[in-house]
Amino acid sequence: MTTVAIVYHSGYGHTAVVAEEVSRGVEAAGAVAQLLRIESLDQDFGPFIDAITAADAVIFGAPTYMGGPSAPFKVFADATSRAWFTSAWKDKIAAGFTNSLSLSGDKLSTLSYFSVLAAQQGMIWVSAGIPAGASTGDVSVDGVNRLGSSLGLMTQSDNAGPDVTPGAGDRKTARLFGERVAWAAKRWEKGAK
Ligand SMILES: Cc1cc2nc3c(=O)[nH]c(=O)nc-3n(C[C@H](O)[C@H](O)[C@H](O)COP(=O)(O)O)c2cc1C
Repeated sequence: MTTVAIVYHSGYGHTAVVAEEVSRGVEAAGAVAQLLRIESLDQDFGPFIDAITAADAVIFGAPTYMGGPSAPFKVFADATSRAWFTSAWKDKIAAGFTNSLSLSGDKLSTLSYFSVLAAQQGMIWVSAGIPAGASTGDVSVDGVNRLGSSLGLMTQSDNAGPDVTPGAGDRKTARLFGERVAWAAKRWEKGAK
């Protein structure tokens, strides 16, 4: 069975909601989603690195803090140098998502970081591949890809708590994104045989 690891940090729960929606999309595509939540700066990331090594794909997720991935995610990213030394993640499918308060909020910087991390590991980056809300005519909170992101998944939450925000459109976009990454992993796996 195709397995997609979703490794993410969430300080206040909003990005966690997005990770859960992404995992629903992965499972809707008939793959297994493995949620790996980064809890602290001094965590032992060995088990996460091993789980990702065993998975067919990985999706990186973090809130955007001060224009980049949150610090606990960056500590995890530095720990992945262990996989870099042995090219353990080479040719594995990778993708990423970020959530933040502002509509832009410099989320692209976080997605760019994820894509560079994937490239350093020799991975195959999967874009969002979901038409922008501006082209389908719905940029409301119920709109799919209302933020018009291409490099990966972007969602936006207000300071109202993860029970209510991000909104319905962003949650649906997250599910579609999870499905796409799972399908990409399945196709990539099939081609390798
Ligand atoms: C230290 C810190 C820095 C932040 N920097 C940004 C930022 O650069 N851009 C932005 O739009 N929101 C920023 N925010 C808001 C968070 O991205 C937003 O609250 C997000 O929903 C937090 O996700 P989480 O609940 O998963 O931690 C920042 C929040 C914190 C705590």
